[in-house]
Amino acid sequence: MSAKYVTGSFQKKVTPYLTTFNDAEKKQFYLDADAAVQELVSMGKDPKQVLWVMQSIGLYLYGNSGKNFYVDYQKIILSDTCVLWSMQPPGGGCVHLFQTPGGKLLIDAGYGVNFFDWQKMLSAFGLGNFSDVKHVLCTHGDADHVGMTGLLPVPPFVHPITKELLENGSRSFASTNNLLLLEHVYTTTVNTFSQLAYPTEYRLSKTEPLGMRGIFPIIDEINFAGLRFEVWQSLGGHLAGQLFFYEPEAGLLFTSDAILNFATLTSWRLTYGSIPDYLITSVNINRELGRYERAELMKLAVELDAELRKKGKRLRLCCGHGAVSVIDEKGNLSIIDPVVHYSRRKYTEGLHNIVAKISWFVRRRLI
Ligand SMILES: [Fe+2]
Ligand SMILES: [Fe+2]
Repeated sequence: MSAKYVTGSFQKKVTPYLTTFNDAEKKQFYLDADAAVQELVSMGKDPKQVLWVMQSIGLYLYGNSGKNFYVDYQKIILSDTCVLWSMQPPGGGCVHLFQTPGGKLLIDAGYGVNFFDWQKMLSAFGLGNFSDVKHVLCTHGDADHVGMTGLLPVPPFVHPITKELLENGSRSFASTNNLLLLEHVYTTTVNTFSQLAYPTEYRLSKTEPLGMRGIFPIIDEINFAGLRFEVWQSLGGHLAGQLFFYEPEAGLLFTSDAILNFATLTSWRLTYGSIPDYLITSVNINRELGRYERAELMKLAVELDAELRKKGKRLRLCCGHGAVSVIDEKGNLSIIDPVVHYSRRKYTEGLHNIVAKISWFVRRRLI
């Protein structure tokens, strides 16, 4: 069977992003991608545009790595010995890093393609590297949250479903989503293009409820350097096996991709973040459940914030994407910790953006 849409010219454009595939795997990927394009065409999409969007994933990830890597970060001093660095890379989820004298704890682990960029950034910040990471807590199995796990010194802590999902190779695993082919091709594309470093070992969460926080069962607890994280099981509206983490003393709620602060995302991040909606119709495997889960999580966050306020503290929502925020009087997410831009680019951001926009426009016209 030969491909109708995924022509030799398209294959040439994306081959550089298939670094871990052998020839047979590449061939299979092109055939699967062709079937996915066909399905999207039957849903009314333009095949050329679909192929451009698929290629854009690689262009964006590679175009914002190395000398073009940048981070918008918030440095939150929790105590004399513990600092939380919440960092937004150009594409994908935030990496939340706790720096303590006993080593580091990470919540979510970015894209694999940026591993060396993060190392350079940590060194530039005087934070050393990843060699003293003691815990890696991953909220869910999307490549932008588990991408570096295979390169870190300890196995990632995940829900057992996340392990199975990563081994299965499709985001639709353990869901009732009927977009099997699209989800499979999208997952393969992002995981491979972003150089997901699969872990060889995992640290699996417990699964039996120990208590409840609103509608969310507390299924486990992680203790490290005076921090105590409750592990909450999500309903799986975004992805099966998704976890939330809550540190009650510091007032930190890690909401993963259930709550994002869209208002703080740059236009590039918003554009890149809209790709799943185009290729798999929604980034949530169950849209309705995702909406319900978000509403319940927000309701719970408001209640927790009210409790913390009585002690003179605030609840910070550490979102899967976007800046760490508090809930303001109007119920909106609002920043209280300044966001600082770090870049390795040799030009100013403004100039870089102009050059990037022109180059994207030219590439788009040539395709
Ligand atoms: Fe994400
Ligand atoms: Fe996600």
